[in-house]
Amino acid sequence: MFPAIAIDGPAASGKSTIARLIAQKLGYTFINTGAMYRAVTWLTLSHNISLDDTPAIIRLLASLPVEFGKKGTESIILYQGRELEEELTLPEINQNVSTIAAIPEIRALLVQRQRQYNEKEPVVMEGRDIGTVVFPKTPFKYFVTASEAVREARRKAQGLKDSIQERDRKDAKRSTAPLIQAPDALLVDTSDLTIDQVVAILIEDIQRKLIHS
Ligand code: DC
Repeated sequence: MFPAIAIDGPAASGKSTIARLIAQKLGYTFINTGAMYRAVTWLTLSHNISLDDTPAIIRLLASLPVEFGKKGTESIILYQGRELEEELTLPEINQNVSTIAAIPEIRALLVQRQRQYNEKEPVVMEGRDIGTVVFPKTPFKYFVTASEAVREARRKAQGLKDSIQERDRKDAKRSTAPLIQAPDALLVDTSDLTIDQVVAILIEDIQRKLIHS
């Protein structure tokens, strides 16, 4: 079994930046699971399929050349051989991704793909349910958050239009795999910390646990 570092938290909490740096430091593969939900949302919208037509979305996914793969030490998503990137942060994706992420059948499909990444190598995976659902047995669980004001400011600085409060509300109240801190996760509030400080806190905890595992 390879280590799986689970990093969960609300929108714009800094999870991706932190997870990527930790993966680089440890030499593990970085997996961004939010991008997977975003890709399904983009494919659904761009094929004019209704967001509540679960069977049609599942059929669509099965029929399209979409691949959840790897480039170097990071996860990537390819559609028709082309990497999906900018389209995944469009305002209409931010607006609709929580609706797609609330569909249990889609979650089951993506969780399966997420676990496959860890079958052959250690991973740092970030999302909303990594410590609770994807890798419930991993000892490496972190819940990264920040005040709403700080998170709003971070999104603005990225130049992205994203109603993070609304998205968090939907993600936290859905019945399947809601955004919630695992009871055994280490809570890190990044509001008043630099990225380097947050990374240091997590690395220290991971290394201590690796020695004892
Ligand atoms: O991390 P992000 O903002 O790119 O995630 C986009 C959306 O995907 C988020 O609002 C909720 C959903 N998501 C999820 O439900 N489970 C995950 N493991 C990752 C993301």
